[in-house]
Amino acid sequence: MPGTIFTNIRILVNTRTESHLLYGKELAELPSIQNGWLLVEDDTIAAYGSMDNMPSSYNSVKEMVDAKGGLVLPAWCDSHTHIVFAGSRENEFVDKIRGLSYAEIAARGGGILNSAGKLREASEDELFNQAWQRLDEISKQGTGAVEIKSGYGLTVESELKMLRVIKKLREKSPLSIKSTFLGAHTYPPEFRENHQGYIDLIINEMLPVIGREKLADYIDVFCETGFFSPEETATICRAGMEYGLKPKIHANQLNLSGGTQVGVALGAVSVDHLETMDDYAIKTLAASKTIGTLLPTAAFFLRMGFQPARQLIDAGCAIALASDFNPGSSPSGNMNLVLAMSCIQMRMLPEEAINAATINGAFAMELSQELGSITVGKKANLLLTRSVPSISYLPYAFGSPLVSRVMLGGNWIS
Ligand code: NIG
Ligand code: FE
Repeated sequence: MPGTIFTNIRILVNTRTESHLLYGKELAELPSIQNGWLLVEDDTIAAYGSMDNMPSSYNSVKEMVDAKGGLVLPAWCDSHTHIVFAGSRENEFVDKIRGLSYAEIAARGGGILNSAGKLREASEDELFNQAWQRLDEISKQGTGAVEIKSGYGLTVESELKMLRVIKKLREKSPLSIKSTFLGAHTYPPEFRENHQGYIDLIINEMLPVIGREKLADYIDVFCETGFFSPEETATICRAGMEYGLKPKIHANQLNLSGGTQVGVALGAVSVDHLETMDDYAIKTLAASKTIGTLLPTAAFFLRMGFQPARQLIDAGCAIALASDFNPGSSPSGNMNLVLAMSCIQMRMLPEEAINAATINGAFAMELSQELGSITVGKKANLLLTRSVPSISYLPYAFGSPLVSRVMLGGNWIS
């Protein structure tokens, strides 16, 4: 019999017959099977169950994998990254240690503009190769699907260059990839005094090509004091929506920017970051279908207060977790660390965190029909852990490399 059979899985995690976006209390429900088996055929999850009743015919399946008491989970769905970038910014990291804030570094021409300068110099091939290595790294850590943003180009040519790199990554990588146009990440130096001029460039020069060449699935704006206002965010998102790009925006990171409200009003798929929330923003999000995507490693790296996950969940919001992998505020795409931080610092339950990093992450990329849970017919994007006593052990033993093997689309990638 062709295929792969996993046996002796201590816990088969997140088994669902149907997928719906998990809001509030539902996040704590993580259906699982103790002592399970799982059959993969071609690139698909074909069947699963408990070892007590595994059909004997499966003993002749081509590849037998004894999980030896490890867990099997759907691979992480990382719905917010900036993985295409040129070089690193550890000099700014040291400036931050010496006391400069993120906003101060940005005001000095560092931050996003530093990366934009480097990116403009880099060729498509260099960008591809660097991003490829990052994808390789995160996939070995258990990530199977990832959203990638542009936003370090800030000129027509360089934004399109980034999006073409993302397109090529999507064609060649075993990961499932979604592409987001973030031309409105900051104002480039040539438009420092002419914000409307840059917004016009985005709307009149960038979006028509992106629409024509189908270079993006989503439109993003950094809605933040000193960057793009809620009104500018709405204008840019509406222009993107004309080309079929749904909004997924940066909101409420550094200030109460009004990003959550504008995102919800636009029917955004997600509003991301949410370090700085008040009751009104939380209530607005809770009353909507928009997902709140929390990026704890960015809060950690910028030494900010963490996202108020408990209040958001208790208010009934749909929460996803993502890495924000980027050179300025989260130079790590390790979703295992994201999981640990969300439990340790944001008091999410391990079950809530796993749901937020799998099925709700898949919803935040509109990939929930094919990814994010152990469901017959979904793509076999799976991670296998070392033998561990329980699911809580994953965020608890936060520094240990617990992911032992990863399968994407039915193929082993590590
Ligand atoms: O998600 N907040 C805006 N964008 C990124 C950081 C970009 C950078 O500093 O390079 C973020 O944190
Ligand atoms: Fe980001």
